[in-house]
Amino acid sequence: MQSSDDPKPKMRVLVGMTGASGALYAKRLLQQLATLSVETHLIMSPYAKQVVDAELPDGLELPQGVVNHQVKSMQIPFASGSNPPDAMVIVPCSMGSMARIAHGTSEDAMLRCADVVLKERRQLLLVVRETPLNLIQLRNMVAITEAGGTIMPASPHFYNQPDGLNALADTVVARILDHIGLDHDLGVRWAQES
Ligand SMILES: Cc1cc2nc3c(=O)[nH]c(=O)nc-3n(C[C@H](O)[C@H](O)[C@H](O)COP(=O)(O)O)c2cc1C
Repeated sequence: MQSSDDPKPKMRVLVGMTGASGALYAKRLLQQLATLSVETHLIMSPYAKQVVDAELPDGLELPQGVVNHQVKSMQIPFASGSNPPDAMVIVPCSMGSMARIAHGTSEDAMLRCADVVLKERRQLLLVVRETPLNLIQLRNMVAITEAGGTIMPASPHFYNQPDGLNALADTVVARILDHIGLDHDLGVRWAQES
């Protein structure tokens, strides 16, 4: 049991990576989380690994402290409503994973955790990447939103003239951190005095 002398428990963030383009967003998010006082967990789908191979020439080196879970095991803390994370961010999120979450299939640890996060009313952010969108995908986005999740398209912005791919990816990472309530100093906010 927690006593009044115990330090505040760290926020627990579960990062899911699926097989959509945009592995760099996840890499930059994991690097940022490592600088903050949070407990970071990771689950990757098998296709996420293929995208990492295709998109990250230096691979995905996990920052120290990140707990990497197997997607085919339900023996992970957040697969039960008795132990949900504070926030789950799926980045990048494929249309396939979004569809499976929208329909509650829960067939692997990633999907089960997303299901748990929704039912326990914790934060679920899906950083989706696809263009253009068909009607099925749009309806799945509505279903997730109605269930309490947030659809956050991986749409970087250019108005701060980002200096390279990392800075461009960070324009999305900054919005993710904003939404899960974590302070950061990534980029300059709009109309902010420098
Ligand atoms: C290099 C690569 C890029 C892909 N990009 C996308 C994408 O941007 N969006 C998407 O929905 N699917 C994309 N896919 C297809 C998904 O990986 C595929 O639909 C897969 O079944 C998704 O499964 P997962 O969500 O379990 O990872 C891509 C696949 C590869 C190999």
